[in-house]
Amino acid sequence: MSSLLAVENLSVAYTGIYALRSVSLTVYDGEVVSVLGPNGAGKSTLLRTISGLVKPDAGASIGFRNRSLLGMAPYKIAQQGIAHVPEGRQVFPDLSVEENLEVAAARLESSKRKANINEVYELFGELATRTKQYAGSLSGGEQQMLAIGRALVSDCHLMMIDEPSMGLAPVIVMRIFKTLRDIVRSRGLTLLLVEQNARLSLQLSDRIYVLSQGAVTFEGTPEQVKEDEQMRDLYFAAKS
Ligand SMILES: Nc1ncnc2c1ncn2[C@@H]1O[C@H](COP(=O)(O)OP(=O)(O)OP(=O)(O)O)[C@@H](O)[C@H]1O
Ligand SMILES: [Mg+2]
Repeated sequence: MSSLLAVENLSVAYTGIYALRSVSLTVYDGEVVSVLGPNGAGKSTLLRTISGLVKPDAGASIGFRNRSLLGMAPYKIAQQGIAHVPEGRQVFPDLSVEENLEVAAARLESSKRKANINEVYELFGELATRTKQYAGSLSGGEQQMLAIGRALVSDCHLMMIDEPSMGLAPVIVMRIFKTLRDIVRSRGLTLLLVEQNARLSLQLSDRIYVLSQGAVTFEGTPEQVKEDEQMRDLYFAAKS
């Protein structure tokens, strides 16, 4: 099976301090892959580098559908079919729900754009009843739905989501994760998820990577995570 996304030997330094060290990661078509790790592990840096927002050291390779993304401008990378839902959602607060979706789908022709936006309203009824509301006045959960909706309307093939559960009540998090799982199944979307909530990402994921101080320290299936003593101690000690 050929990979959808292949990251090899990725090192990133900010002003001389390394945030990522020789990271390699592969995502296959239709998979849900989670990257776990504590604060400062380099999770967001990984997604930002794939999106072209941060430049890696020489010697790295980032391939999407067998095409190199290195040196490509962020908007070009998005056009390849990669959507990035950043940490903290980052919707346009002074635009309405509808306008946020319109902007994200701007490069599609009008009938396709409308169809995609309606699909988002079907998935997230909360947004359908608030189309004219400013995004900045939405609740945190609704903003996360809108951020995911913005990625969906762009017709992405790989969605990268940075800590969708952050700051949200568990019931909202469950709702969002359930919808994500449904979308993956029904649309053949591929998901690269960054999370600190290990239990949740284990439920949703086909494979897990653990980042620690910028390096991959574990790679395996949720079953392998649960069988690994060190991983159990790190992530599940409290309840097992
Ligand atoms: N723009 C920047 N300039 C300098 N250092 C940075 C910059 N962005 C991130 N870093 C540093 O890089 C390291 C990794 O940061 P990153 O945001 O990727 O971690 P993270 O795993 O996403 O953390 P969190 O879970 O808190 O979001 C941290 O030590 C951080 O201070
Ligand atoms: Mg982060």
